[in-house]
Amino acid sequence: MNVLVIGSGGREHALAWAISKSKNPGKLFVAPGNPGTSKIATNVQIDTNNHKEVSEFCKKESIDLVVIGPEKPLVEGVADALRAEGVNVFGPSANAARIEGDKSFAKDLMKENGIPTASFSVFTKEEENELLDYLQKTEYPVVLKASGLAAGKGVVIAKNFSEAKETVEKMFRENIFGKAGNKIVVEEFLVGEEASVFAITDGEDYFLLPPSQDHKRIFDGDEGPNTGGMGAYAPAPVVTNDVLKLVETEIIQPTLKALKEKTGGFNGCLYAGLMITQEGPKVVEFNCRFGDPETQAVLPLIEGDFLELLYSTAKGKINKNSVKIADKTAVCVVAASKGYPGAYEKGFEITGIEEAEKSGAIVFQAGTKIENSKIVTNGGRVLGVTAVVEGKDLSACKIKSYDALSKINFNGIYYRKDITDKGINRSK
Ligand code: AMP
Ligand code: GLY
Repeated sequence: MNVLVIGSGGREHALAWAISKSKNPGKLFVAPGNPGTSKIATNVQIDTNNHKEVSEFCKKESIDLVVIGPEKPLVEGVADALRAEGVNVFGPSANAARIEGDKSFAKDLMKENGIPTASFSVFTKEEENELLDYLQKTEYPVVLKASGLAAGKGVVIAKNFSEAKETVEKMFRENIFGKAGNKIVVEEFLVGEEASVFAITDGEDYFLLPPSQDHKRIFDGDEGPNTGGMGAYAPAPVVTNDVLKLVETEIIQPTLKALKEKTGGFNGCLYAGLMITQEGPKVVEFNCRFGDPETQAVLPLIEGDFLELLYSTAKGKINKNSVKIADKTAVCVVAASKGYPGAYEKGFEITGIEEAEKSGAIVFQAGTKIENSKIVTNGGRVLGVTAVVEGKDLSACKIKSYDALSKINFNGIYYRKDITDKGINRSK
């Protein structure tokens, strides 16, 4: 089976890695990919925003399945355009991808269907005065979100009215998120521990991947600004079997049903970003794709034929028997460039990847490139070093991943030292 993965991050490296282990591999392409994917697949430089170029490539290479990694092409309708050309695609239509691309759509869908989430109100630019009135009366902290796609940066937790007002000015007047900030969703602040649950779904039936936990803030102890994610582990002990049952019956099942009715159905990976509160799991956000870096910790736990899972889903009837969840634990620690998520320098040589791999870790590459035959840094999140151990043993897995990471170096390397600690404390 010939496969094209679209994207260039650690998530796409992990997707290509899992696909490359399938029973029925043909040619595997990644567009544009990175130096990590080039070791297991052929990187191709096609313009992935140009639907015609992608579908012509699919015809030329007899591609049986396209897997779309990032949200942007999904929200922009790349899956629809390829399907219209007869290509099998894993990834939702633009209509269904609104669950991530339009937060007010997602919140309304949850409200209409009684799906547990933070209470909220939505305000357009024309309603700025009403919004400020509301913010004067509301309880703090409060959460303000740009309704559209803002590359993970559109969420502000305001501690008081003056912070909230400043955020409104930035979104409505300075347009820091462009059109994505034309509508603001104001949400109740939820207290609890976060977790991510991915449902692979053909629109009706689904298969849940092991729950994971991301670490969004840059510094240890969840301090500092939000990032794309600094590390993840799976399975996450905060999602007990009882919590997972609630996630299925109160969140995943009604959301898939509502998406079927409202959008014609969601085909792909539905990402439920959850807060496990004292009242049970509540949705913080939905995404229309796999998470990054959660995927790098979740896919090493999948046994069987991951490609068959994705292919059968794309064809419209998920084959849940194609995979099983192993009794293992995985930890992915992200090595980032100094300064990320703010400004950072690039182009520093990376050493030690092979040594880390020899120690048994999987090194997923993200912001890397080859320059003068050397591998150098090329982004904020550079690598995701993943260790896997047998059984449920976060402590051993933590030691293994940090040991592998200690073999890697580049100028300004930064990583969190506490990935897994919440899970370890909970397991005690
Ligand atoms: P989002 O992009 O919606 O996932 O938000 C980014 C991060 O902001 C989340 O991972 C949470 O840590 C935090 N966050 C978002 N919404 C809420 C909420 N209603 N209550 C508490 N924290 C939130
Ligand atoms: N890890 C967060 C995300 O993928 O959105």
